[in-house]
Amino acid sequence: MCGIFGYVTNKEEALGPILIAAAERLTYRGYDSVGAATINSGKIDLRKDVGKVDSVAAKYNIAEMRGQRGITQLRWATFGEPSQVNSQPHLDSKGDMVGAHNGNVVNNVELREQFMAEGMTVRSQNDGETCVHAVERYISRGYQFIDAIRLAYGDLQGDYAFVIGRADDDKLYAFKKGSGMVVGLGDGFTCVSSDLPSILPLTRTVIRPQDGEIVTLWADRVEVRSVKDGKQIVRMPETVTESMDAVQKGGYPHFMLKEIHEQAQVARELIHLLDGSPDVQPLIEKMKSARHLYFIGCGTSYHAAMAGSVYFAQLAGRAVIPILAPQFIAQYAPAVGYEDVGIFVSQSGETKDVLNALEAAEARGMTCFGLANVVGSTLTRATSFCLPLCCGYEISVPATKTFTNQVVTFLYLAYRMAGKSTADLARIPDLMVQTIEMVAPQIEAIAKDINEWNDMYCLGYGATYPIALEGALKLKEITYAHCEGMLSTEFKHGPLSAVSKGFPIVFVAGPNDVPLIISGINEVKVRGARTIVVAEEDSRLRANGDDLVVIPKSDAQTNALLAVLPLQLLSYHMSVMRGFDPDFPRNLSKTLTVD
Ligand code: AGP
Repeated sequence: MCGIFGYVTNKEEALGPILIAAAERLTYRGYDSVGAATINSGKIDLRKDVGKVDSVAAKYNIAEMRGQRGITQLRWATFGEPSQVNSQPHLDSKGDMVGAHNGNVVNNVELREQFMAEGMTVRSQNDGETCVHAVERYISRGYQFIDAIRLAYGDLQGDYAFVIGRADDDKLYAFKKGSGMVVGLGDGFTCVSSDLPSILPLTRTVIRPQDGEIVTLWADRVEVRSVKDGKQIVRMPETVTESMDAVQKGGYPHFMLKEIHEQAQVARELIHLLDGSPDVQPLIEKMKSARHLYFIGCGTSYHAAMAGSVYFAQLAGRAVIPILAPQFIAQYAPAVGYEDVGIFVSQSGETKDVLNALEAAEARGMTCFGLANVVGSTLTRATSFCLPLCCGYEISVPATKTFTNQVVTFLYLAYRMAGKSTADLARIPDLMVQTIEMVAPQIEAIAKDINEWNDMYCLGYGATYPIALEGALKLKEITYAHCEGMLSTEFKHGPLSAVSKGFPIVFVAGPNDVPLIISGINEVKVRGARTIVVAEEDSRLRANGDDLVVIPKSDAQTNALLAVLPLQLLSYHMSVMRGFDPDFPRNLSKTLTVD
């Protein structure tokens, strides 16, 4: 997803390297174009294009850019194809102002037509340019800058964060609606960004503006005003103590591999936090007294919600409806009420589909809780209570450690719903370490063997069904191959016809489901499939499958959690072997703040 960064200093300096470094730190969000603008003694220098940060920076010599104020933007195309002209930042008609946004302005097309009819110079299809003209419209009508922004805010529909500067003053202005934005206060400078990672190496003193707030940044101070009445708002700076280690690769070739290896450690921290949390019991009570329970998310977070629903039913005898967020709106929102409880699951806490579902649920009076990794994200602020995932930064676009901690949280809550002691869960982190040690070399070899295939299936049953879906999503996401996740028993109802000699099919087997999985294995094996079975050691599976990837002995629910680790590793190795960057798969973005 797009990312913005703005920087204000009190003297002319080399801003190029600062902007490039900030852009690099935003790359994990996903992007296709890069741009930088500096404002120096009343002149705007703008350089931008499609491509990676290093190549655009080299092509346009961004490192040499100087000034007192700078803006950089990474664009992930939504309005307008990836092109030089659609790249951000954008100028106003006369080239006196420069601005960039992240997010989506949904009435972009209508506004562009209005601006052109009003005689403004509209150069691109991009909605970032629309934000600039929205301010220009009121400046040219004689309004002061803050008032022009307030009026522009009323015209711009959608969710976005926007930063803008004008050539003839010494400030940047930023405002937001529905998208993340953080302001940093440093020694002799201030800055604003879509998120923390691009700010933390510069300063740990931050302010987190809310929706409907305008921030004016000078080199030595910032001022926050309300869009509603233009009055000043006091927002006290906070000191961020989080470690920056997470945004370095720490010796691993990719963030994804590092994050796979961090899973045991973050699970340990999470279980410790949940054990000591006074918030868990009230949450359990609320869930116990609910008429219906919904676990709501998208993508990987939805798979965790599915796993949670299996755990709640199997361990606590409590039915839960896991549902994809947009489908929740279409299907269940009309049926929910104040007697129901929903847990909204999102790594980023900014996924628009999830926030839309939250809004729909709240409008019906449903009790809404969150489960999110990014503290301070919209989800954490919009729910009455949000459990943290405690994973630190997850940079790689494919979610790994946040998925396992979502699953661990649901497992923990299911134990508590069932009145079971959670002491047993303390062994999970060690089992995760063992799993990686046990499977790593074998998985690499399997990845090599099946890497030529662009069609695969990943099958599970019961607690391993969501894991099979998650394994298939990881494979699709970073190998660009087609991999379908499915309930193993469904395979014979159609997909069986796709099987040919050597066709790879991964089975994820729970300890209680071995006979059923053996039937599935034989059904496809006699038709030529190569079967890769992820399971505890079992002589029956060893005798029937082609490859048995052994994970440690545990119980049916923990088994499912552990089984995702070899699948993550399989997708990682296949991606690398294909010459792709697993951290930043094409067309995808870490944070999806669009519909
Ligand atoms: C996971 O690997 C994907 N990147 C994607 O499916 C992701 O889980 C989905 O977009 C939801 O994101 P969220 O957890 O931040 O809401």
